[in-house]
Amino acid sequence: MDAEDPQRGRGRNVITRATCPSTQDVVREEGLAGAPAGTVCVTDHQTAGRGRRGRTWSDPPGTAVMFSYLARPTLAPAALGPLPLVVGVALADALPLEVGLRWPNDLVLGAGKVGGILVELVTPPAGPPFAVIGVGINANLTATQLPPTDRLPATSLLVEGGAPVDRVALLERLVVALDDALAGFAADGFAPFRARFDRRDRLRGCTLELRLGDRVVSGVAGGVDDEGRLLIGDTAYAAGEVERVID
Ligand code: BTN
Repeated sequence: MDAEDPQRGRGRNVITRATCPSTQDVVREEGLAGAPAGTVCVTDHQTAGRGRRGRTWSDPPGTAVMFSYLARPTLAPAALGPLPLVVGVALADALPLEVGLRWPNDLVLGAGKVGGILVELVTPPAGPPFAVIGVGINANLTATQLPPTDRLPATSLLVEGGAPVDRVALLERLVVALDDALAGFAADGFAPFRARFDRRDRLRGCTLELRLGDRVVSGVAGGVDDEGRLLIGDTAYAAGEVERVID
């Protein structure tokens, strides 16, 4: 971390773990103990990494960039719907290749998923809720190290870009990008991020199927609205899982 600026390094609470079950749990505990916003836990390997909807996030040791970031939003929890999109825009801008975004939390390169975002809201017994923002980037995984998936295939910066990245430098860029994006979101809301999301939106114009519990809706994706909800036809969806992109 840069050691010059309190918001960007000096004094930042950075917890490093050679290995841990999940950085999400470390930062959750830190948050409950009163750690400041911007606290980060980074690891070289997770033994129980998790993604959205109970999925596993797996990593060959020493290849990915994985961290969790403690956010203490000033906005009410009901206004935090766009948070994963704000994070996605910030990360995409900081990554070295031209990354697309797939609502709500996938970072994509070519036909594959290069990274994911997991936002977990924590409501302590006392005090305001906080968010643990988990980020996993497939940085230096070789083609044979990419984990099998049941949905979007995985890819990596190495596979797509042809050269390994400096993971520490990338971590620093991503964390600072998050600092800036969260400050911007707190000050100005989602509106400035919406246009930035639109430019990277890989679903817009595609016919897709969205799973909502035991129901599936299909239609043409029309981007996202001011609350970060996915638009399909005249309806805005705050949650759901894009199950299939048909064209
Ligand atoms: C997803 O694609 O569903 C989200 C993946 C998030 C993975 C990161 S890796 C660091 C942090 N710790 C975890 O257990 N998960 C997140």
